[in-house]
Amino acid sequence: RPTLLSDYTPYNFSLDSVTLDFDLRVEATQVTTTLSVSRKAGGPMRLNGEGITLKSVSIDGQILARKDYQLTQTELVLDNVPDNCVIEIITQCNPSQNATLMGLYVSGGRFCTQCEAEGFRRITYYPDRPDVLSVFTVKITADKSKFPYLLANGNMTDNGEAPGGRHFAVWEDPFPKPCYLFALVAGDFDILEDSFTTMSGRDIPLTIYVDRGDAPRADYAMDALKRSMRWDETAFGREYDLDRFMIVAVRDFNFGAMENKGLNIFNSSLLLADGPSATDMNFERIESVVAHEYFHNWTGNRITCRDWFQLCLKEGFTVFRDQEFSADQRGAAVQRIKDVRALRARQFAEDAGPLAHPVRPSQYEKIDNFYTATIYEKGAELIRMLKTLLGADDFRKGCDYYFETLDGTAATVEQFIESFEAATDRDLSQFMLWYEQAGTPVLDVKRDSSSVTFTQSLRATPGQKTKRPMPMPIKWQVIGKDGPVSDPQMTVLNGASITVDLPNDRPDTTLSVLQDFSSPVRINSRNETGDYLRLMGGDPNSFNRWDAGQTLATKLLSTLTGAIESGRMPRVDTALRDYVSALRATLLSPDFDNNFKALTLSSPSVMTILQTRKASDPTAAALAVDWLHRAIGDRLRGDLLPLYNDLQDSGPFSPDAAAAGRRALKNASLALMGASFHPQAAPLALEQFNDATNMTDELSALVTLSQLGGRRVDQSLSRFYEKWEHNPLVIDKWFAVQAMRKLPGGIHDLSDLTEHSAYDRRNPNRVRALVGNFAMSNPHMFHNIDGTGYDFFTAQILDMDSRNPQVAARLAGAYEIWPKLDKARQALIQDQLRAIMAAGPSQNLSEIAGKILG
Ligand code: ARG
Ligand code: ZN
Repeated sequence: RPTLLSDYTPYNFSLDSVTLDFDLRVEATQVTTTLSVSRKAGGPMRLNGEGITLKSVSIDGQILARKDYQLTQTELVLDNVPDNCVIEIITQCNPSQNATLMGLYVSGGRFCTQCEAEGFRRITYYPDRPDVLSVFTVKITADKSKFPYLLANGNMTDNGEAPGGRHFAVWEDPFPKPCYLFALVAGDFDILEDSFTTMSGRDIPLTIYVDRGDAPRADYAMDALKRSMRWDETAFGREYDLDRFMIVAVRDFNFGAMENKGLNIFNSSLLLADGPSATDMNFERIESVVAHEYFHNWTGNRITCRDWFQLCLKEGFTVFRDQEFSADQRGAAVQRIKDVRALRARQFAEDAGPLAHPVRPSQYEKIDNFYTATIYEKGAELIRMLKTLLGADDFRKGCDYYFETLDGTAATVEQFIESFEAATDRDLSQFMLWYEQAGTPVLDVKRDSSSVTFTQSLRATPGQKTKRPMPMPIKWQVIGKDGPVSDPQMTVLNGASITVDLPNDRPDTTLSVLQDFSSPVRINSRNETGDYLRLMGGDPNSFNRWDAGQTLATKLLSTLTGAIESGRMPRVDTALRDYVSALRATLLSPDFDNNFKALTLSSPSVMTILQTRKASDPTAAALAVDWLHRAIGDRLRGDLLPLYNDLQDSGPFSPDAAAAGRRALKNASLALMGASFHPQAAPLALEQFNDATNMTDELSALVTLSQLGGRRVDQSLSRFYEKWEHNPLVIDKWFAVQAMRKLPGGIHDLSDLTEHSAYDRRNPNRVRALVGNFAMSNPHMFHNIDGTGYDFFTAQILDMDSRNPQVAARLAGAYEIWPKLDKARQALIQDQLRAIMAAGPSQNLSEIAGKILG
């Protein structure tokens, strides 16, 4: 039943052109598909189709009789297809009842589509695979007053009136594309218009389509779009190709956004923002996702994937490109820290658990389940290593070669790597192992007085017993007590182990290894607390300076977790004192920017602690985090209030990195005051909550208040609700804050929230806000040893699965942590997974639950 990479065979027909004629009606849309085909190899023509009704098929104008084709739940098979012919297929679907949010569906009264990966087959019968490229002409007809805008990929070539109060538009996309990049949108919108002049002087109109009244909240996305377009020209030499570019925001969306050719579709949560309603994190994410989808135009659309096993070819590369863009816009050091923090929290956990898979997997049941941190984030790390290994100039040469030689094709990872070999005359064959081997390698560092030895190892992962060494760039430097005593060096570890001479053998030096996180590995550095304190104070590499603090905090938290588990008093006085005084030095130093300071203050997550331990009680880890926050707050008592006061901004709101950094550090101080019950914490939080003119401050204050507890929490939550009732994106935050807090009424409060009039179990954003955040960010309640957290979560997953298997399977991923938990919770979660498997789950959910269970 699984699909195998090794089974790949090219399609036996080519599609010379495709015409789609949509007669849009909310409950019964008719689609007439016309395919001009030519045969490339023998055999019947197999077309995918799901959840649609076949009305007729004809070949060269002759309607086929029922005996001339085979029809199953998932396929239409045509037996005697002439070598060159025109096939016409008429199908019908019901967009209003399509709760999978794949294919054609209705969101907020508008038609929209999502086809990646396999949604097009819910629109019409078609070879739904990325290596079948064709040019599309799309005609859309719909009621004119309800659906004034009719959009599809490419350029509009015709439009006019149709009988019965309807109208039509015709769109042509001159660039051959696979059907997963098809998009259609019809409805009423507010629009925001602008334009961009490309490097060759072409003027491109840019339009963003949003809900009525939301146009001003698309300003930031528009600005980010123009900056992305310019950046791709300067950084990669890539120019936009069509005559117009459009983005549409929709409320019901399975994930973040989609790069459909010339017509990107976004989850409105990743597009709409203004100071009062969006946090700095929202602005940052919007900037990066707008860039990501735009960059796909070259890495994904002009060059697409041969099959879905090559997903990282477009996703890893495009994430790398958006990370580089954000680094240029907001500062490289801080961006690197944030990217690595996310990689470690999500991808390292995935790589260490039952869902581990290679960046290029070799089999899957549902490709939807492989839009993972491994394919996206680790995929981006591989591209970054390639750049490190080759150097910026050769990296660019390889990219240029790739764009020039493979434009218009559906490519493989091998072809990508071969482009770099061809352009730079290097042998990169060993590098392919990074794509094939799952798991996070461990880099062991052992030094003596005159040399250092780097050794790599990689543990077995599901289905992969033996592993081979991979080329690993290691950036390192020797640091003495007054700062660096050597320049940074780059060592490439190709085999299992390598020994390098130290540049000088002064005693009392510390190695700063893996600067800038030059390879996606765990490190066993043998550094001691004193070394980390030295790095925290004096490593010239910002990333490693930050990381030294994280290592110290993680060690503390692990010790604390162990103590709490066994009911002992934690003995961490000295370690804590040294760590906090290093934190304090960072906070008070004029040399670091506020974003960096805020990142230094933020402690490792419960997930990170669990990764470092065996079979732990997650609620003990959560208590350890609370305990550490409180201890830091106590010890910085004299510093936090002045810091908080100094960072107040009075000018107009700006979402830029400098202003966001001030808010981040100010709110981190407030949070620490809250965690340590500073007498000023509650009054300040209340004042900030009441007076805030931006959402970052308003929400941070609400979170601090909700942690302080008491009656003012309910008052603030109701006030917040009333103020924002009409903004669904803010109401998502309202649900999220409650999902992440220790609710006074326990799990009943959470169930009550699912009955709230604003809760909508069909809307993925809302479900993720409540149910997703509960499982990922409320360890106290989710992992409650009475099992009620798990019961609630499983019920929500199964409920979701009956409508939207993709989102249900994604939620269920939260259970992958079970092997890291204590025995009692392991048993509880295994029971939950068995219950899911016994409930007759969708194929999406069954693949995830089955693999997690092992
Ligand atoms: N290609 C889209 C993006 O990365 C995401 C599509 C996700 N599809 C899915 N089935 N989960 O920008
Ligand atoms: Zn993408």
